[in-house]
Amino acid sequence: MAPRRKKIYEGKAKILFEGPEPGTLVQYFKDDATAFNAQKKDVIEGKGVLNNRLSEFFMNGLTNVGVPTHFIKRLNMREQLIRQVEVVPLEVIVRNFAAGSMAKRLGLEEGTPLPRPIVEYSYKNDELGDPLVPEEYIIAFGWANQQDLDDILALALRVNDFLAGVFYGVGIKLIDFKIEIGRVWEGDFMRLIVADEISPDSCRLWDMKTGAHLDKDVFRRDLGSLTDAYSEVAKRLGVLPEQGTPEKPTLIN
Ligand code: TMP
Ligand code: ASP
Repeated sequence: MAPRRKKIYEGKAKILFEGPEPGTLVQYFKDDATAFNAQKKDVIEGKGVLNNRLSEFFMNGLTNVGVPTHFIKRLNMREQLIRQVEVVPLEVIVRNFAAGSMAKRLGLEEGTPLPRPIVEYSYKNDELGDPLVPEEYIIAFGWANQQDLDDILALALRVNDFLAGVFYGVGIKLIDFKIEIGRVWEGDFMRLIVADEISPDSCRLWDMKTGAHLDKDVFRRDLGSLTDAYSEVAKRLGVLPEQGTPEKPTLIN
């Protein structure tokens, strides 16, 4: 039985608990799936287990190529130990091909290649539905300064190069994805690192041959089984969790 820990924050897909040491947190992956700012909801058994594994895989990979992240280690099937960060209130979206809101806004066919990777920012605010914001707003409202934005852009593009390559190797096209960025202090020195999660919940992934969707669009657009899609991604990357019943939450507060 895991020790009871204090709940710090509960979001739509994850819960954060106090960590074992100062400056750490435990990130718990729920099975809840939401879309369109939680207007559509369901519980997809096993999703949390898959995303915990997949996020571990990507965060470890990023660490190995020198991109700093909040990930410390996976604790069990649904939990990972992470560094506590101050979250920059932005969703950083990187697009390689037009899809989703960009395709709609510009009247582009989904899958149209973009002339170069495009990075855009949404203000993280559920009540407002995470509106797209220009850099001008980000700086004027003090969510990040110009130096932070330069660093965030560089981080986002490094993550894109890494992820696009990893997915290419297993026959998957990385259409777009979203990351979140956190601040950590080392003495007087502030650093920006990749936080939150990287999983098929926050990417668009198309099978290179068939174009099949292997991401949360399966849930958003009712295209079939979400666990089958995520399991396929995990299987191709060699990170399928052990067989067995996914753990039920043990850290109830
Ligand atoms: P969009 O085309 O709907 O703007 O989404 C762009 C990418 O960001 C896509 O990979 C899905 C991801 N995303 C999230 O992770 N969270 C969100 O709340 C939204 C709207 C998109
Ligand atoms: N994450 C958002 C929600 O929970 C939107 C999405 O991913 O489509 O509603």
